[in-house]
Amino acid sequence: MGPEDLEKVLRLLPPGDARQDVLVGLDTPDDAAVFMLDGETALVHTLDFFTPIVDDPYLFGQIAAANALSDIYAMGGTPISAMNIVCFPCSLGMDILVRILEGGLAKIREAGAVLLGGHTVDDEEPKYGLAVTGKVHPDRIMTSLGAEPGDHLVLTKSLGTGILATALKGDFLNETEMAGAIEGMTRLNVAASAAALAAGAHACTDVTGFGLVGHLLNMLPQGGLACEVSASLFPVYEGAREMAAMGMIPAGAHRNREFLSTRVEVSPGVEEIDRDLLFDPQTSGGLLIALPPQGVEAFAQQMGGAGSWTRIGEFTQSPGPVIRVNP
Ligand code: CO
Ligand code: CO
Ligand code: CO
Repeated sequence: MGPEDLEKVLRLLPPGDARQDVLVGLDTPDDAAVFMLDGETALVHTLDFFTPIVDDPYLFGQIAAANALSDIYAMGGTPISAMNIVCFPCSLGMDILVRILEGGLAKIREAGAVLLGGHTVDDEEPKYGLAVTGKVHPDRIMTSLGAEPGDHLVLTKSLGTGILATALKGDFLNETEMAGAIEGMTRLNVAASAAALAAGAHACTDVTGFGLVGHLLNMLPQGGLACEVSASLFPVYEGAREMAAMGMIPAGAHRNREFLSTRVEVSPGVEEIDRDLLFDPQTSGGLLIALPPQGVEAFAQQMGGAGSWTRIGEFTQSPGPVIRVNP
C-alpha cells in the first residue's frame, strides 16, 4: 500500500467533524491531531507501532518509542503521557518483551512523559509502539503547511535507515556497523523541535515511512509553492551509500518512488544513490523545518551541539513540479 492508497482510504471516511475545538483533524494530512481544551492548552494525539528493525530488543524499544514521540515534537508539542501498543508471540519468551518495553520506557522518561498503561495482543510477529498524548499552546502549533518562498529547508537527522535496516535483515552488516543510524533513530527530536519554535519556523513535519519526498510533499500546498533541494547536501548515515550501491533498497522505497515520482523533477546529474535516498522510508527520522532566512542563526544557536542538522534546500514560488532535486 502506497501513500496514494492511504489518501484514497482517508477520502472514504466521512469528513472530520467541523468543530472549533478540533484544530488539526482528519481533513488535513499532518503528523498528529490537535484538540483544543481552552485558550491556553491543546492536546496533541498520535499513535505509531511497527515490527522490529534491529535485533536488539532494548534498542528496538527505544527506536519505536522515539519514533512515536516524534510526531508530538513535529507539531511543536511536549509529550505528557504514553500507552504501550504490543503484539507479541508468547513462544518468543517474556524476557525479550520486557527488554522492548524497558527500551520504550527509557525514552518516555527521557521525554519527561509518563507511561500510563497499554494493551498486548498475542501475534505471530512482534510489533511495538506507543499512543502518545502531548500538550501545546494553541498559538504555538507547528503544522506541515505554512512554508513561504525564500524559507530554508532544514533536516535534523541523516537519511538511509530503510536501506541500512534492509542490509541488516540480509546480514550484509551488523548492528555495530550501523551504530550511527541507531544513535540517530533513538535520539528524540526534542531539541530540534524547541529550536524550530525559538527560530520562528513557518512549518514542520518529521520524515518517516514515505521518505524525504513523501513528507516534503506534505509541506507543499496544492499550488504556487515548490522546494529545491540539493542532493550533495543530504546528510546520510554511515554505510547507507555503500549498501544502496549493493542494491539494499527496501520495498517501501520502490513503492514511494512509484507513487511520488511524478511530483518530483530530478536533474539528470543526480546520482542513482541519491535518487534512492529521496524515497527511502525512514524510521524515527529527523524534523523537516521551513525556516525564514532571519531564523537560521537563532536555530543554529538553539541547536548547539544537540545532534546534526543540515540546510538541504529552499522553498520557491513556482507553478511547476513541486520538488526539484539538483545534484
Ligand atoms: Co510524522
Ligand atoms: Co507517525
Ligand atoms: Co507538524
